[in-house]
Amino acid sequence: MKLAFIGIGNVGFALADNLQKKGHDIVIAHDDVNSSSVRKAKEKNPNFRALPLQEAVSGSNLVFLATPFGINQSVLEPLQFHGKILIDCTNPVGAGISHGLESKISGAEKVQEWAPDAKVVKSYTIYGYENLMNANFPNYNVKPVMLIAGNDVEAKKQVLPLNSDMGFETLDVGDLSQALHLEHMTLLWVKMVRANGHHPNFTWAYLEQ
Ligand SMILES: NC(=O)c1ccc[n+]([C@@H]2O[C@H](COP(=O)([O-])OP(=O)(O)OC[C@H]3O[C@@H](n4cnc5c(N)ncnc54)[C@H](OP(=O)(O)O)[C@@H]3O)[C@@H](O)[C@H]2O)c1
Repeated sequence: MKLAFIGIGNVGFALADNLQKKGHDIVIAHDDVNSSSVRKAKEKNPNFRALPLQEAVSGSNLVFLATPFGINQSVLEPLQFHGKILIDCTNPVGAGISHGLESKISGAEKVQEWAPDAKVVKSYTIYGYENLMNANFPNYNVKPVMLIAGNDVEAKKQVLPLNSDMGFETLDVGDLSQALHLEHMTLLWVKMVRANGHHPNFTWAYLEQ
């Protein structure tokens, strides 16, 4: 698949590099194609190309958003998605590792407001970038789970093979309003790992009887 990445920092690079190695074509979407993160990403993976935002979005099958949450409105509002899937990997994080929108609405629903002609799916936020780089746990016979949320069932189905390529089991947790709870899971992960010293490669699994 042709995948466009808006944001190629910790999260964007981890996903893009992982997916490129599974055979996907990666295009970095940035109006400054010489920005420091774009240059660094292309040095680390010379298979990446970079194009201006709208051109990269228009030429892709699916778009990843992996930017600081605070810039999302200004990045998204000028863009045309024409019904494309936009995977929201961003998190609104406030002071003291709190929810940046005071838990009143999910960041993903705001992303949908700012990109009304996209089909937004929330994914890849419940872990740090470390698990997105490498989701293989060879000593276990269960796979790590990736929780996704979105209003469009068909759009969520398109995300499933990408998760499988990276080694994740997918669990669809419901519509986009559920993203608020995924964003709280992120805060849990961040507090556990970045503040309390848990291992950054620990993972969640889904077991059902
Ligand atoms: N870090 C984690 O472990 C983690 C895990 C899950 C979710 N998240 C969430 O994922 C998002 C990204 O986090 P990160 O740690 O990857 O951040 P990061 O390393 O700072 O990367 C941010 C990326 O956004 C790009 N960017 C900024 N303005 C842009 C614009 N106008 N157009 C296109 N690209 C632009 C930056 O490019 P330039 O700076 O080169 O312009 C950079 O490539 C955040 O919302 C974060 O909350 C983070």
